[in-house]
Amino acid sequence: MKTPIFQTSTFAFNNSAEGKRFFALAYGKDQAAEGEQLGLIYSRLNNPNMQILEERLALWEGADEAAAFESGMSAIATTMLAYLKPGDMVLFSHPTYGGTHHFVHQVLVEFGIERIDFDPHDTYDTIYEKIETAQAWSRVKMVYVETPANPTNDLFDLEMLNAIRDEIQLKGGHEVLFAVDNTYMGPLWQKPMDFGADVVCYSATKYLSGHSDLIAGVVVGKKEHVVKVKTLRTFLGLVVNTKYRDVEDSNGSTSQKCFGCSCFFRSTPQGVENLFSRIYKPRGETGCFVSKAMFKRWSYDKF
Ligand SMILES: Cc1ncc(COP(=O)(O)O)c(C=O)c1O
Repeated sequence: MKTPIFQTSTFAFNNSAEGKRFFALAYGKDQAAEGEQLGLIYSRLNNPNMQILEERLALWEGADEAAAFESGMSAIATTMLAYLKPGDMVLFSHPTYGGTHHFVHQVLVEFGIERIDFDPHDTYDTIYEKIETAQAWSRVKMVYVETPANPTNDLFDLEMLNAIRDEIQLKGGHEVLFAVDNTYMGPLWQKPMDFGADVVCYSATKYLSGHSDLIAGVVVGKKEHVVKVKTLRTFLGLVVNTKYRDVEDSNGSTSQKCFGCSCFFRSTPQGVENLFSRIYKPRGETGCFVSKAMFKRWSYDKF
């Protein structure tokens, strides 16, 4: 089923009371009642195409909710800024994609947010020791891991990191967000939430979109966490765009090309509906570069 493309910035309310309620939910001032959905307000907050895309991505992940972004970096940066405050620390995997590395090493420190690094060879005990040595039990508010890591394909043990998160929560007496960048495995091949992750971040620029013709990002996870990330997304203005534009070809004729999240709905092999046949089949039939024992695979029947 193909969705129409909604090219609009603003939506009408039936009455002012309805508008007031939509804004209260969108700004996180009130909790949605059971089954209540955020109404359409303004496309920087939500729009039908983005919502459809988010619902499909949440389904692939088996998550409550998803938030679509202009890029993978905006998804990651917004998640970190939503959960980290000056004085906090992030337990941060090494190596990571260069943009994420730069954001944590160069940008977050400007906001008084520091990090404790761990690498693929670190065990529970060595990470425990690092936190103990830094006397950071009360400061670590996020465990962030990219696995497989870009560019080395190093793998991290998510169950062990979840146990570390539990220990920090116990010793620190506060909640710690467990965030996983799953860009390189994708939601069919690795399900970080099965191993305790609260949110999963993607550069949708890669496998999720089908390669090389759009930039987008996604955060999926438990509802309470994704709602918090979405609220900050609204104020940073980082929603994925929905557009068709007239593009002039080299022969002078114009045609409509899609951009941003409308690209995910194309009838081409890159569409989000075709994620399964794009990712599962080629690897499933010939074997994957990472041992299948490393991750839990969904049953073929589910699709
Ligand atoms: C693992 C990983 N995470 C995040 C990003 C950032 O995503 P984007 O380029 O869509 O902003 C990249 C980009 O290459 C990446 O490889």
